[in-house]
Amino acid sequence: MTDAKLIDGKAFAAGLRHRVAKGVAELVASGAPKPGLATILVGADPASQVYVRSKGKLAAELGMASLDHRLGAETTEAELLALIAKLNGDPAINGILVQLPLPKHIETSHVLLAVDPAKDVDGFHPVNVGRLGSIVAGAPLDFPVPCTPLGVLMLLQDALGSLSGRHAVIIGRSNLVGRPVAQLLLRADCTITITHSRTRDLPGLCRQADIVVVAIGKREFVRGDWIKPGAAVIDVGINRIVAEAGKTRLVGDADFAEILPVAGYLTPVPGGVGPMTVACLMFNTLQAARRAAGLPFASA
Ligand code: GUN
Repeated sequence: MTDAKLIDGKAFAAGLRHRVAKGVAELVASGAPKPGLATILVGADPASQVYVRSKGKLAAELGMASLDHRLGAETTEAELLALIAKLNGDPAINGILVQLPLPKHIETSHVLLAVDPAKDVDGFHPVNVGRLGSIVAGAPLDFPVPCTPLGVLMLLQDALGSLSGRHAVIIGRSNLVGRPVAQLLLRADCTITITHSRTRDLPGLCRQADIVVVAIGKREFVRGDWIKPGAAVIDVGINRIVAEAGKTRLVGDADFAEILPVAGYLTPVPGGVGPMTVACLMFNTLQAARRAAGLPFASA
């Protein structure tokens, strides 16, 4: 049997970034102001610092204005909410991203609720979560959709074409990935099974899947003999492990070496879903800016 075709998220994300840059240039040429993305980081978590910096840098590269707000770890919830209220009212800002996780003394749900749903480029506001949860099959995604799940959908549609009628088994029920992926694939006419830590016979369920999406944060959890020959496996996991000579390397939630000879399509880690998240954030920011300028959502 031939090996799975690798889904090149790095290349797809590069194409998407290019299309976003073109969209930004066209918007500005039409007389609209530059799209503006505000990022907020509370505290100094090193991984979050890297993420926020890369988002700001990419926004600038694509022709957007990027405003980085760094707040100390001792910032109160009231202070953070006041900053969000200011950004909600600032016409130069189209997208507001509050980097998660927040320090424990700040209630995340209060913060997500405070962001104007039209500027919620993460798609985490309950209004946008509700829109996604009640969307009918095939309806346009004319509201912000969480970035990683949107990236998963784009990669699957690019690799497989129509997803209609396919059985997708989703491993993990998080608000960040599992649930929104399920809603997006349901909208694309898949049959959905959402699984989690209490699911019985997970390997048996996976063997029935045309599509497996795994996002549970356990390294190499999905095994080769769980996969139906020819199925598409989308690995959202990013786990840093210590490899040879004390060096670290990234592995996914799926056992790449075991699955490669069985699956029809497989995302590598790194270079699969990862690069899609920030590219989709830029896409969402452009969409928010288009809507602010009275233009319709553009398709990706
Ligand atoms: N932390 C980890 N992933 C994300 C994300 O997609 N958005 C935000 N705001 N924070 C995160």
